[in-house]
Amino acid sequence: LKMLMNCRTEEKLSLHLCFQVDKYLYHMRLSDENLMDVSKRFRREMDKGLGRDTNPTAAVKMLPTFVRSTPDGTETGDFLALDLGGTNFRVLLVRVSSNGKQTVEMENQIYAIPENIMRGSGTELFNHIAECLANFLEKLGIKDKKLPLGFTFSFPCQQTKLDESILVCWTKGFKASGVEGRDVVGLLRKAIKNRGDFDIDIVAVINDTVGTMMTCGYDDHHCEIGLIIGTGTNACYMEEMRHLELVDGDEGRMCVNMEWGAFGDDGALDDIRTEFDREIDAGSLNPGKQLFEKMISGMYMGELVRLILVKMAKDGLLFQGHTTPDLLTTGHFQTSFISAIENNNEGLVSAEQILRGLGLDPSPEDCVATQRVCQIVSTRAAHLCAASLAAVLRQIRDNKATDRLRTTVGVDGSVYKNHPQFARRLNKMVRLLVPDCDVRFLRSEDGSGKGAAMVTAVAYRLAKQHAE
Ligand code: GLC
Repeated sequence: LKMLMNCRTEEKLSLHLCFQVDKYLYHMRLSDENLMDVSKRFRREMDKGLGRDTNPTAAVKMLPTFVRSTPDGTETGDFLALDLGGTNFRVLLVRVSSNGKQTVEMENQIYAIPENIMRGSGTELFNHIAECLANFLEKLGIKDKKLPLGFTFSFPCQQTKLDESILVCWTKGFKASGVEGRDVVGLLRKAIKNRGDFDIDIVAVINDTVGTMMTCGYDDHHCEIGLIIGTGTNACYMEEMRHLELVDGDEGRMCVNMEWGAFGDDGALDDIRTEFDREIDAGSLNPGKQLFEKMISGMYMGELVRLILVKMAKDGLLFQGHTTPDLLTTGHFQTSFISAIENNNEGLVSAEQILRGLGLDPSPEDCVATQRVCQIVSTRAAHLCAASLAAVLRQIRDNKATDRLRTTVGVDGSVYKNHPQFARRLNKMVRLLVPDCDVRFLRSEDGSGKGAAMVTAVAYRLAKQHAE
């Protein structure tokens, strides 16, 4: 009965088929014990990243963000925000007003970043960003105002203060030359200065995880973790200053951008990575890097499914052994297809349409098997996230020395929000791995945009207080 329930598509498929796929993907199916083990490994990685002596060789960098306080509700003003590194590049105007209760209004505009600019020279990239900003200001008729700006730059950065952020390495689809090792605030200021047609005050650079935590923290004061499962995956949380050996001072807490996508880059996950994971990595823009991310996030999940389908077809287990040029093309199986195929009601219909769209002529069994492949890949992703998140929860619980932790995780990202089962599977596995934590998952509303503005607003308020 249990197996029947796991299969979900009982009527339409021979159970036999499901078992075949399960057997074929045996290494992709992680047991609860495997996951507990991954969780423990991740906790050790966190310690390594936090320690002064161990950090240089740590895969998970645990980057200090210099964000120490969350909004207190008294912030007001107009702020600009830039959001680079997610599905879209956006420019935003965020208006924070407070008459009794704080309200946030936003105007935003999506701009395209062509692939040749994402992977061209850094100068071109920052000139393009400055140009989009100019266009936005012009459109709103505010080009003559010097507004404070928060920059959500969702890549690993070394920070020594809020408005200096040195790119450690590009991740996801970006690879612009001459930016790694440089301060992105400096590069943006330079691009704006060279244009000379407007001026802005860059106050803060933040990671998207931090923005997500900040916006959710506004509604729920227990929120001390930010989680992204979108194009990439990563999380941040509030850590005790005394544990942050890389930053001076022992008082209070600071938000740490974990950059957990790099978990495994030192070989720590080699025993659970499959041939498909290795193939994805080998064909990526950053081989050997972000190995955990490549098992989980939206940029890679569809491609993982595609590689599996190709191999199964070649082994004669699918499509009567046929492949098509589309099925054989990198990127042609989008991650959004997985969401459609795993839909409870329409899933198999979608599977058929999608496979036909790839030029295949699938039998009903092919559709069921494809659905099963999708389930296995996306479940593994959700469960791996649960394993690392469970480690963060245990760390926070130990920090507070409580037996039972009550906390909130702010979450954002296209995979978490669009996949029909992902959130439920993640929540369920977290509860299983850390039964002594009461975790609330709160979906963030535009954390990257609003969050950058909130951090900027707080920094602005604090700066004003200092000046007074
Ligand atoms: C990648 C980036 C990280 C970001 C995440 C989610 O992992 O390195 O900074 O938070 O994607 O966008």
